[in-house]
Amino acid sequence: MRARRPTPAARLADFEAEVIPGLEPFAARELATLTPSPAVLSDAGLRFPYAGPWPPLLTLRTIVAVHAVVATGLPRPSALLDDGTLKRLTGAIGHIRSLHPAGAFGTLRLGAAGQDSPTFRGVRERLTRATGLRDVAEGGDLLLRFKRSPAGDRFELTARLSPRPLSARPWRVCNLRGALNATVASVMAGLTRPAPEDTYLNLACGSGTLLIERAAFGSAHLIGCDLDAEALACATTNAAAAGVDVELHQWDAGAVPRPDGSASAIVADLPFGQLVGSHANNERLYPGVLAEAARLAAPDARFVVITQQVNLFERCLRAAPAWVPEQQIRLELPANAGTLKPWIYVLRRAAEQASAD
Ligand SMILES: C[S@@+](CC[C@H](N)C(=O)[O-])C[C@H]1O[C@@H](n2cnc3c(N)ncnc32)[C@H](O)[C@@H]1O
Repeated sequence: MRARRPTPAARLADFEAEVIPGLEPFAARELATLTPSPAVLSDAGLRFPYAGPWPPLLTLRTIVAVHAVVATGLPRPSALLDDGTLKRLTGAIGHIRSLHPAGAFGTLRLGAAGQDSPTFRGVRERLTRATGLRDVAEGGDLLLRFKRSPAGDRFELTARLSPRPLSARPWRVCNLRGALNATVASVMAGLTRPAPEDTYLNLACGSGTLLIERAAFGSAHLIGCDLDAEALACATTNAAAAGVDVELHQWDAGAVPRPDGSASAIVADLPFGQLVGSHANNERLYPGVLAEAARLAAPDARFVVITQQVNLFERCLRAAPAWVPEQQIRLELPANAGTLKPWIYVLRRAAEQASAD
């Protein structure tokens, strides 16, 4: 589809990056590559001023979504109906739409406390008339949020820069139950300390999220394995959509037919035992994976693992002296049935153990 012609940006300086709780330092570091002004943590995520062109904001990989602050210092909801504010708002919406192919936005949702009040109904009517977008109560391509400003004394309106969250990657054409959030996968891939000559092994790779996200860091030999043929087919489809070369095998993560010390980076999104796998299976799987990863890892290689079965994983880790824990990151991941609270572990392969085993 042909992209719309960019319209001039409204004079907007402030943005909010929606971030997965626990990933704020990684998101702030990625934002620092775009803007020298430091991001400030607020209730809605990381707030940052930015004066550059907007397309680079759509390429951020550790951030769930970016929202522009389009109107601020509003004393009350009815201020949205002022001609000047509405004009600024429709200008900003036009600019956001110009960043995407024609037809990318069909619907509009205004999220606000009391969103069914006559004032908000009036705002929605004016906006749908001005933009041609259909007003919806759920989902929505153009997502507007009316909320208190960080100082708390006034209100502001924000608009998401993309019709979907940035974490919903275009390459994900095959959706596997229990697939890892791609922003989390991007952080995990980065934590392996990517190097061009990497042999990067993803144990229990599922639909390939950790493999595809590693590709953004540059070339590497990408190898994934999973027991489930359907998951591997899904990974094949996603990797093809991403244009990423991966080697996929139907192998048991506890018995990988590859030489000792042959992987310079290893990652795993282990079954949490809820949606995928079971707690009973994990009692066998986790120690087996830690031992096999220790055999496969080159000295100093990082093994980056995510799991919600923290007690079991830590018990298994205490019995796996080849792995030196370097970092733990606690996450809060929104899920259909509430919030998941997995941890990311960064483990380093102890060099002396590698030669002693
Ligand atoms: C949480 S899912 C991984 C999801 C993946 N990160 C993604 O984004 O699609 C865990 C995966 O472990 C695989 N698995 C479970 N036991 C395994 C084993 N012993 N060897 C290899 N894979 C295994 C499952 O088939 C499942 O695909």
